[in-house]
Amino acid sequence: MNTDELTGLITSRRSVRAWTDKPVPESLLLKAIELGTYAPNGGNQQNWYFYVILNKRIIGSVADAVQEVAEYMASWPEASKLGDAAGRMLTHASFFRNAPAAIAVAAKRYVSPLEEMISAREKTDPRAGVIARGRSISNARIQSVSSAVAYMLLALHQMGLGAVWMTGPMQAKAEIEEILKVPPEMDLVAFIPVGYPAEMPPPKPRKPVSEISRVIREDIAR
Ligand SMILES: Cc1cc2nc3c(=O)[nH]c(=O)nc-3n(C[C@H](O)[C@H](O)[C@H](O)COP(=O)(O)O)c2cc1C
Repeated sequence: MNTDELTGLITSRRSVRAWTDKPVPESLLLKAIELGTYAPNGGNQQNWYFYVILNKRIIGSVADAVQEVAEYMASWPEASKLGDAAGRMLTHASFFRNAPAAIAVAAKRYVSPLEEMISAREKTDPRAGVIARGRSISNARIQSVSSAVAYMLLALHQMGLGAVWMTGPMQAKAEIEEILKVPPEMDLVAFIPVGYPAEMPPPKPRKPVSEISRVIREDIAR
């Protein structure tokens, strides 16, 4: 694959939110997961876990749980201040109900010996606290799983499948974990409905590289 072909694959991927009824072969989903696991990951812990859901009833139960939480939040007096966003929250929450398949992504918990040392030290050394906060914002556990998801989405796209990376459903994290029987040492972090696209959304232009990057060639003046 040359750079133009890679560019074509990456730039043509879209978040797909409408699917045909055509069943998704399990083998394609498992292949996409396998490719996802070649993503870089913190300490090579490979701390990801994937629930491949081909059962439409279970996808429906997840959608019900997410919708119920959306309705609960919409009932809060504070929701009236959200304006249109409150309505969108209600109509958008469970649009994935009819997806033919979904992949729920979990992150296993792990604490490295270095993290254990820093958090013990934090109790007596304020600078260790600054170090801990710097490390925590960069959250290797979540970044690792995210990199696998990004690879996986690209693989699904190359296979002609359409998917959307969703964190919105995590508003019903506890309920979905119960439905999927996620063990306590894992946290669900994303829900990805997948199917053959019924429509391909228009391109979403990206900010120019010049706006989102800075090339550092010389010393930075203080
Ligand atoms: C971490 C993350 C969370 C997202 N959560 C949602 C979501 O809950 N619902 C949704 O419809 N799209 C969600 N998206 C998809 C984004 O809206 C989408 O990637 C973005 O608008 C760019 O469009 P594109 O993927 O078609 O390029 C999420 C994407 C990411 C990376």
